[in-house]
Amino acid sequence: MSTALHTQLCSRLGIRYPIIQTAMGWIATPELTAATCNAGAFGMLAAATLRVEEAEQAITRVKQLTDRPFGVNFLMEQPGAADIVDMIIRHGVKVASYGRAPKAQFIERFKSAGILCIPTVGAPRHAQKAVQLGADIIIAQGGEGGGHTGSVPTSILVPQVVDTVQVPVVAAGGFRDGRGLVAALAFGAAGIAMGTRFLLTKESPLPEETAKRYFAATVNDIFVTREVDGLPQRVIMNEFVSQLESGNAISRLVRALRSGLAYRKLSGASIRELLTSALAMQQSEGLTRTQMLMAANAPIFIRRAMVEGHPAEGVLPSGVIAGVINDRPTCAALIERIMCEAEQTLAALAN
Ligand SMILES: Cc1cc2nc3c(=O)[nH]c(=O)nc-3n(C[C@H](O)[C@H](O)[C@H](O)COP(=O)(O)O)c2cc1C
Repeated sequence: MSTALHTQLCSRLGIRYPIIQTAMGWIATPELTAATCNAGAFGMLAAATLRVEEAEQAITRVKQLTDRPFGVNFLMEQPGAADIVDMIIRHGVKVASYGRAPKAQFIERFKSAGILCIPTVGAPRHAQKAVQLGADIIIAQGGEGGGHTGSVPTSILVPQVVDTVQVPVVAAGGFRDGRGLVAALAFGAAGIAMGTRFLLTKESPLPEETAKRYFAATVNDIFVTREVDGLPQRVIMNEFVSQLESGNAISRLVRALRSGLAYRKLSGASIRELLTSALAMQQSEGLTRTQMLMAANAPIFIRRAMVEGHPAEGVLPSGVIAGVINDRPTCAALIERIMCEAEQTLAALAN
């Protein structure tokens, strides 16, 4: 392998290839995470949509499926966040991954336990703040990225963040192949992180019916909405989101309350926990009451489409890159292909 492809990210994370599979709620299961790790890249388990006891089972399961290092992603404002911090430390997980509303006391605990902190940011000032709080590596996600996302395109954001911070930067938002990996390295990144590309792999639990929607989507069908939970979120336009976009304040409130109750049943969270988590989001993001309720229970909308296989009745978080993805390889085949393409791209540039 070309030495250009063995970056700081590989040495810091103890991996062969400079590729991270980012966490995706409901999707980054132990199976997907471990398959990524076993293929030589770095997998992140999604714990933001799990109850505390489920998170513990999931971490244990990843450890059964791989002996390679992996990460755990969670929200520092989710119910039971402090227990998840304990768990990450207790299990000796390599990386803690998080995004908005980072908490200094949790980060300090990770640092003193030797756990690498890798937050995802969408703006240079957030990168700066994240490093001040102790981030070891930064994932800079451009606006093309799936799920919650910013507005600056990856090609502008990544070099900006590289110029702003001293720690290694990983580029995210819009990657799927080896050409993209080489482009990210050219921008000064130490590797790439991908969500949507891993969503569409064999080991991803995405139901076939829902995967068909992703394959059918063109780049023009993937847009940013604030109607799901008040924060800009990149999704595939479908019947459900189109209804949210056109609804009035009352219909949104009714929908928010209905799904809030459903989420409570599903997650086992008490009304107090649900409201505490919603209130934290309201304070950190300046949301309205309806948005606050939507935010607290947005996972139920995602679950409907992404787990239960009803793509018209829920939210389909997606990066723009889904518009040009047409296959569902195994993680190993995908990673091998990306690395081969990266080698070929480097050779073509050298010629
Ligand atoms: C289906 C889906 C679910 C996601 N869920 C989460 C999540 O739970 N936590 C998180 O930090 N990011 C989440 N994201 C964002 C991804 O981790 C990642 O940053 C993003 O997908 C990168 O852009 P890409 O889709 O262009 O590769 C999600 C993205 C997708 C597509």
